[in-house]
Amino acid sequence: MSIHRVGVLGAGLMGAGIAEIAAKAGYDTRIREVTEDLAGKGLRRLEGSLARAVEKKKLSPEERDAARGRLRVTTRLEDLADCDLVIEAIIENLEAKKETFRALDGLCGAQAIFCSNTSSLTITEMSAATARPDRFAGLHFFNPVPIMKLVEVVRTIATSPETVATVTEFARSLGKEPILANDNSGFIVNRLLVPYLLDAVRALEEGVGTREDIDRGMELGCGHPMGPLRLLDFVGLDTTYAIAEIMFQEYREKRFAPPPLLKRMVMAGRYGKKSGRGFYEYGEGS
Ligand code: CAA
Repeated sequence: MSIHRVGVLGAGLMGAGIAEIAAKAGYDTRIREVTEDLAGKGLRRLEGSLARAVEKKKLSPEERDAARGRLRVTTRLEDLADCDLVIEAIIENLEAKKETFRALDGLCGAQAIFCSNTSSLTITEMSAATARPDRFAGLHFFNPVPIMKLVEVVRTIATSPETVATVTEFARSLGKEPILANDNSGFIVNRLLVPYLLDAVRALEEGVGTREDIDRGMELGCGHPMGPLRLLDFVGLDTTYAIAEIMFQEYREKRFAPPPLLKRMVMAGRYGKKSGRGFYEYGEGS
């Protein structure tokens, strides 16, 4: 099946990034947010990233204008009815995702493929809310979406081989490198990454080292581009907390249990870069 029109649900950090690369790759792209305010915010984020790509000479001004011309932002789910592929990137809440997919299922054509960018929830359960579990897969991107090369293609026991092939080809057409994972919470990358990030918080809690030394240790000792605490700020402490809770519920293993310090920071609104403060401070004068 060939994909021409792509729908993206959610214009947050991930949704805006996914819509950006889809439009850059030549797809007619619709992004749906629930309110005008969030839609406007998402669009500004996306335009900021396109401007940065031009500044970094990754994109010409003409290519930026062409990509921008392929994008449309809406608050109406109905505007995604004629999409060939819809990628969901809304909040990490199973009920909210199921409700959205159920509504979309009644709007989109029978051939349309649905994908979720969830980090840790089960694709199978979401697909069961629709009449198209064979045309339902996971498509998990990494932050920052325009830069990170990887996409996890996630198949459930009901996903058809044709859907896997189409979605894998679509990921390649975005300039990404797809890997195939089965539908287990956290797939491949978060299954390994999340316990590592949580352990870094435990190391800080236990006073093993300062935040700077923990980060510097992994940057200089292991060649990671960012230390774990800075990466937590970057991904979002709220997001990581939600992912860890879901993975802990699924596996009941201590390595996925969110440490108390992470919970306290989320309760205090210290979500990381997006809220101006996490393990580090961001913004003017910090
Ligand atoms: N569009 C396209 N390219 C862009 C761009 C844009 N908007 N902005 C920057 N770039 C390019 C730059 O030109 C540069 O390319 P070259 O290396 O070819 O010159 C590259 O991207 C890096 O840009 P910068 O030099 O500005 O930034 P940096 O070197 O400080 O790197 C970083 C920033 C890429 C974020 C790096 O620190 C990094 O890789 N961090 C780790 C990120 C990570 O681990 N992400 C995964 C998180 S986990 C997740 O997302 C999954 C989940 O479910 C939780």
